[in-house]
Amino acid sequence: MDKHLNHNTSAMRCPHSLAEVDLFSPGAQEHWYEAYDILHAEAPVHRIPGEGYVEGTDAFILSKHEDIAMVVRDEERFPVVGSIALKKLIESGGDPTTIPGITSVSASMVTLRPNPEMWRAHRQELTDPWVGPGASRNEAMIHREANWLVDQWIDSGNVEFVSQYAQALPQRVMANILGWPISDLTLLKRFGDGCVKPFVYGSRHNNQLTAEETRSQFEVLDKFKNYTAELIRQKRAQPQDDMITFLTQVEYSPLARRLTDVEINGIVYAMVIGGLETTQYAVAEQMQLLIEREGVWDELKRDRSKLRAFTEEGMRLRSPTQGLSTRVTSRDEVFHGVKIPKGSWLHLRWASANLDPDEWDCPLELKLDRKAGSRHLTFSQGARVCPGASLSRLEQVIAWNTLLDRIKSFAYAPNNPFLHQPGIMLGILELNLTFERA
Ligand code: HEM
Repeated sequence: MDKHLNHNTSAMRCPHSLAEVDLFSPGAQEHWYEAYDILHAEAPVHRIPGEGYVEGTDAFILSKHEDIAMVVRDEERFPVVGSIALKKLIESGGDPTTIPGITSVSASMVTLRPNPEMWRAHRQELTDPWVGPGASRNEAMIHREANWLVDQWIDSGNVEFVSQYAQALPQRVMANILGWPISDLTLLKRFGDGCVKPFVYGSRHNNQLTAEETRSQFEVLDKFKNYTAELIRQKRAQPQDDMITFLTQVEYSPLARRLTDVEINGIVYAMVIGGLETTQYAVAEQMQLLIEREGVWDELKRDRSKLRAFTEEGMRLRSPTQGLSTRVTSRDEVFHGVKIPKGSWLHLRWASANLDPDEWDCPLELKLDRKAGSRHLTFSQGARVCPGASLSRLEQVIAWNTLLDRIKSFAYAPNNPFLHQPGIMLGILELNLTFERA
């Protein structure tokens, strides 16, 4: 996202009581973690009046690990909002590509993954080979890109870490995977910003854009779709070793046919919305942990086998996606004595579940020997678990291995505002650092 966001920080107040907890208003992102303490102590199920999925119902913020882990594993009781919309779309019988205001990924779901079995096949056959368990094929490329980025600033002694590393690395990696021209990285970023716009500029728990904001978002998304369509055409004419070429050639078993351009366009959209900013935020937060938590950097330098544990702890302590309103209740429920009627909207607060004192021993400590630390909910769990988790984990480990090889130590430069973008992602706007090379 643009680091000069004109967001309102005037309302930035730290909550001292449950009545003051508001995770979604302007400036709230600066005090999320104080709010989680209050939610854990007083309201593990917190009602947001009048903001339910069905008219007349409410929304509820869930902040406990056991509750969220249960919800994401039971699609019958807690259906995914997107699936409800998809069902309606399929029942309408129309051509999804002609519906105004539909993203290419939603349109592609009508044919590619209309039910849970095909959702699984979509993942196994189409995305896993590149960003799931097959992500290791990208290892050498990620090393090369990480080193190239460090080359750009290693002689200067200082770096704006977000734009010059944490953000740039996932962009370059995704471009390489897709077969997106590196010369068009600026466009990739612009299109990525368009995709995630609701999660940054949207209001309330469910990231609503105004009609005008949606209109301008779709101006960008239409350009993205057209650009991608041309790229797919080129890959069909001149196949390369990349994910888009693969998608033009693979036979998708549930349909016993190859994919259409529209379907491929939808998958590219999914990779761009999921694969850029999330990993950026993970790496940027981990840098702050390394500067602030004494001894961890040196321990990792001594023993690289602890890097995976570090990145898992980093994602647990500072979840990039703090929460999502992706589930609803299909029947009346009771959580911790609180009635949640059918049709309520559930806001799953992954970040607070990751600090739940009933789940984690000393939740605020960064422990490199934590038992089963990867059970955090940063990527969700169950059938809908993030399909790009393997790629992101690999990127994070390589990002740190590269820096540990080449840099002796990092420190904050004096000019850091430590402000975050609005929305539901934990995105620090800039990180000015000084360093000594190794
Ligand atoms: C630290 C990095 C990341 C985080 C924190 C993250 C988090 C999440 C979360 C919480 C979900 C929602 C799951 C649910 O509703 O139960 C999700 C879904 C998704 N993620 Fe990620 N993600 C990350 C990286 C990636 C990457 C690298 C990609 C692509 C290469 C990706 C692609 C997606 C997609 C496409 C979905 C939607 C589900 C689907 O279409 O199958 N994510 N992610």
